[in-house]
This record gives sequence, C-alpha cells and structure tokens, in this order.
Amino acid sequence: MEINSIEQYHEVYQHSIADPEGFWAERAEQFIWRKPWKKVLKWNFKTPSVKWFVGGRLNITENCLDRHLATRGAQTALIWEPNDPSRKARKFTYKQLHAAVCQFANGLKALGVKKGDRICLYMPMTPELSIAVLACARLGAVHSVVFAGFSAVSLADRIKDAQAKMVITSDYNARGPKNIPVKQVVDDALAMGCDTIEKVIVHQNTGGAVQMKADRDIWWHDAIKGRRKSCKPTIVDTEDMLFILYTSGSTGKPKGVVHTQGGYMVYTDFTFRNVFQYQEGEVFWCTADVGWITGHSYIIYGPLLAGATTLMFEGIPTYPNPGRLWDVVNRHKVNIFYTAPTAIRALMAAGDQWIKGRRMPSLRVLGTVGEPINEEAWNWYNERVGKKRCPIVDTWWQTETGGIMISPLAGITPTKPCFATLPLPGVQLSLVDANGKEIHGNDVEGMLCIKYPWPSIIRTTYGDHERCRQAYFSSFKNLYFTGDGARRDADGYYRIIGRVDDVINVSGHRIGTAEVEDAINKAPGVVESAVVGYPHDIKGQGIYAYVIAAGPVQNEAAFKQLVLETVVREIGPIAKPDKIQIVPGLPKTRSGKIMRRILRKIAEGDVFNLGDTSTLLNPEVVEDIREGAVGG
Ligand code: PRX
Repeated sequence: MEINSIEQYHEVYQHSIADPEGFWAERAEQFIWRKPWKKVLKWNFKTPSVKWFVGGRLNITENCLDRHLATRGAQTALIWEPNDPSRKARKFTYKQLHAAVCQFANGLKALGVKKGDRICLYMPMTPELSIAVLACARLGAVHSVVFAGFSAVSLADRIKDAQAKMVITSDYNARGPKNIPVKQVVDDALAMGCDTIEKVIVHQNTGGAVQMKADRDIWWHDAIKGRRKSCKPTIVDTEDMLFILYTSGSTGKPKGVVHTQGGYMVYTDFTFRNVFQYQEGEVFWCTADVGWITGHSYIIYGPLLAGATTLMFEGIPTYPNPGRLWDVVNRHKVNIFYTAPTAIRALMAAGDQWIKGRRMPSLRVLGTVGEPINEEAWNWYNERVGKKRCPIVDTWWQTETGGIMISPLAGITPTKPCFATLPLPGVQLSLVDANGKEIHGNDVEGMLCIKYPWPSIIRTTYGDHERCRQAYFSSFKNLYFTGDGARRDADGYYRIIGRVDDVINVSGHRIGTAEVEDAINKAPGVVESAVVGYPHDIKGQGIYAYVIAAGPVQNEAAFKQLVLETVVREIGPIAKPDKIQIVPGLPKTRSGKIMRRILRKIAEGDVFNLGDTSTLLNPEVVEDIREGAVGG
C-alpha cells in the first residue's frame, strides 16, 4: 500500500502507532522470505536489543534483483554517468545487473569469501562499487564501505576495527580534474599492520599504472574470468549483519554502525516509495556517495528493492562547469533528484547563468538531506531547479536510523521551507528537556529522541555493544537519542536545529571534534587543540581550530600548513580546518574541561557576548583569544 493523500498519511500514521507489528508485517509480506518470521518484533532500549521479523530467513539481493527478473528484467536498473562528460554513460538492465552481481559473487566465493566475513570497499563511484556491495550481500558477507576520500590512516583504522578479510578497490578515482590514486592509498593503509587482509581486488577504472603485489592483489577482471553469471544466494537470518558503516560521534574514533537484513530491507523500500512518491518507470538520482548511508539506502538498496532505475554519478557538481548536474538531469531524464543543501548553496553561488537555459522538464520531485537547509537555498531550489512545480522533501535521518525518519511525502504533505515536517509512519518522536522529561504540546523545542523501534534502527556498534548503548540509549531512559535538537512548531511540524553534541556537520558530512583534535595534536609542535563549528555560507558549518604551539611560532603560515597536512594525513581533506588560530591557552573550567561555549562564540564572531568567564581556571586567556580571532 502506498500513501496518496495527507488524510491517508494521518490514518496510516495512527495505525502504525496503534499496531506497529501489524503495520510492518504487512509491509514485509511483499518480499521473498525463505523462511517466515515467527515474531515481528522483540525489543528493549535498555541493553539495547532490537530484533525485527524474528526467525525469518532471506537474502536481500534476491529481493533487489531476482524478484524483478520476470517482470522487469529488460528495464534499466542502473545508469552510470562518468566523471568525464565526453565518455559514454553505462547502463545495466535488471538482468545484466543480476548477472554482474552473481559473476562477481562467484569470483569472491572462489577467493574464499563466506557468510559473515567482513569485506572493506574503498572505491570511487563506479557501477563496480554497487556490484561489489550486492555481491557481498549475495554471499551473506558483511560490506564495510569506506568513503574513498578518507586517508590511509582512517582506512587502516576501519579495516582493523572490522577485522576485514579483503579490500576491494580501484586503480584510480576520477573526480573532477583530479585522478586520485586510490590503490596507492590501500597499499599505504595495508602497510600499517592490517593483518587480517588476505586479498585485494583491484578494479581497472581509469587504467593508470598501479603496483600489484604478488599473491595478494588480483584484478577484478581476472577474479570474474570464467565465472558463472548465476549464483545461488546465501540465505541468512534476518538479524545477521548486512553491513557496517563507520560514522563519527562526539567522542573517540568513528564507530561501526551495524545494520541487519530484513528490517533494513523493509524500511528502505517503504521510505523510498513513499517519501519520493516513486512512480513505476521513473529515473531516480541521489547525488550522495555510496561511502555514506544516503548512498547505501537511496542509491542501492531502496531504489533496487522498489524496482526503480537508479543513477550513479562519478563526478562532482562543478566539473566541467556548475551546470553539470542539470546536464545530467536532462541527459538521463531524471524524475526524482536528491541532493545535499551544500551542493545547492554552491551551485546557487556559482550564478544563475548555469541553470537558466537548462529546463529539466523531466523533474518531478526534489529532495535534500544531510544538514539543515536555509530558506534562501530552499527557495532557489524550488524556483530555479524545480521551476516551482516540483515538491521538495527535506528528509531528516542519520547513519544510525538506516532510512528517512522525518520528511514530507512528495506532493502530499504541505511543505514549509526549512522544515522536515512530520514523522514517517512507524516513527514515534519525542522532544525532551535536559532531564529527559518529555515536552508535550506544540511550539516547543527540545532534544530529539525516538521512543519506539523502527525496522532499520542501529543494532550495535561493531565489536563494542556497550559503546552503542552509551552513545544512543544511555542519555535518556527508554529513548534513542539522536544527538540533534529540534523545534516543533504550532502546526506540529519539526524543524531540525542541529547537533547538540560535539559533532560538526560540514557540507553534510559528520565530523567529530575529538577526532579532528586528535589529528591536530599529532602535528609537530602542537601541544593541545580545541575544535568547534561555526556558520559557513556554503558548507553549513566550517571547522575552527584553536591550537596551542609548543613554543614561539616563527612562521605562522608554515605552522598552519603543517597542521592542515597532518589532518589530511590522519583523516582526509573533508576534516581540514577552515580557520586556525594559534592561542596561548584554552579556557578551562576548574576541573580541567575546555569551555567550548566560549570558543564557539568567538568562532561565530560574537566576541563581546561571552557570558560569565569568572569561573574559569584561566580567565586571562579569553582576552588573548578574542584579540587574535580569525575573522572573515
Ligand atoms: O544533524 C543531523 C544532520 O545529519 C546528521 C546525521 O548525519 P549522517 O549520519 O552522516 O547522515 C546524513 C544523511 C542521512 C543528523 O544527526 N541531518 C541529516 N538530515 C538533516 C539533518 N539536519 C537537518 N535537516 C536534515 N534534513
């Protein structure tokens, strides 16, 4: 059943709350289950433990691919638009994608990949990345996709944490004018003691030179040579792991968010169809990278489960010019377009000449995700991209939620700029105050929590269940805490305010301040650092780093350059501070905690309104920091 009107949304929502098990069981019935579930849901948020469709057995790729062969085998499943616009796009029908996934799965199997093995994917946005994801799932192996912009150090950390058996990579990554040597990054990572890795499969993407290590490295084309194009799916338990995806939090290293099979399948399919109001035969384009959750759920799983045509783009929005996305929309007659506010703001700043002549008559629905969208960007998206005739869905969700949680239903829910509007069916929100007390009524603000499980809720953090409990289920009793603050307006609509923890959202990418600080502290000559976010016109938030140097700094530019290089080496270019200020000290409380509130104010440029600083251990540093603040 799909939802077709706002009245129906309210009815369905009520039903989903009154009888969650009945509601989700109905949604799950359309899929191929090799063994039916015995119980729909078992849960508690205390330990926490959540199990959906208990006892059921299935293979998700059978539902993404095999299930469609009889009815839509000849329909395009995947369109790939290359970075270089003069190169031809590649297309796979459902039948061809099925064959490619099976053949690669057989290649993996021959190399010893089995159910439960963790396979790390470090690849550019090529069809082979999606094929590799699905091939892992075909065998019941657990994919851990690492965004190919992360550094060798970050990649090594993730490989070690997941104890991955294999890495699948490419030779190079063509991104705009750059040709990035991803295989080299893998080699560097594996030199950092990733003992569990047995094999590396290398897809020849750009054809550039790479070093192949004998007995370890295998070309993709050799791995599939002579392999059959059919492969029996490995039937797994619904609560077996499907994938691990690392994401940043307010403390420590990134954690491996674990998603499982059946619940994730049911939820990504349901949200894809209903949020975008997907219609049979439409082309759907999500511009995210498969290295993030948005790419997992809405480039691969959601659209394929629904039998849609999904588009994958290798390049960047500004190459060869800022009209590229609109050219791709026209070229492939995209109907539904889903992107991040940061891309909208960047293209808006590039000027209207890039969009004026590009009519895009195929567009029907627009979506945004990843960060709050400001009103100006929302209006530009609506007027210039959608030509005022495409509903915009501002979708709020997280790596941990697996799928969209708060969003309008396209063309059904009346929208308001900057509002993610209403919870989807099955999503029971709660705003709480600092004591965890629920805030009832409308026109209120609080910390955003969820009080009942939905099918694709995070199950654990890989290898450390206690960390999962601590991070999401310990702040407030019997609630999942999102880390976000939100407002519920007079109409009951939700507006996401932003993170209330030490996480910064830079261009829609989640970055933990602690991680960046750890990286900066590794730079030569750095004693200590503190990192905060500040409002940034294009990126949403920028990274402001306060750094204490070991002694007098002779050459400030060179010192800052070293800090930047260290962050790129430890994490990757996405975590590079936008501003660095060398400071004599950091404001600390008497118990030694950094007073970030003051640092945030100064980074925001609000230097004369710092509140009470008298309780600080070292109030005198505030004056120094204020004087040296980096503006602009
Ligand atoms: O702060 C919220 C913000 O992104 C965070 C989740 O980041 P990540 O796990 O990387 O997933 C991003 C894509 C699903 C959230 O805690 N966020 C996400 N969507 C929105 C948003 N903030 C405001 N509006 C949104 N639509």
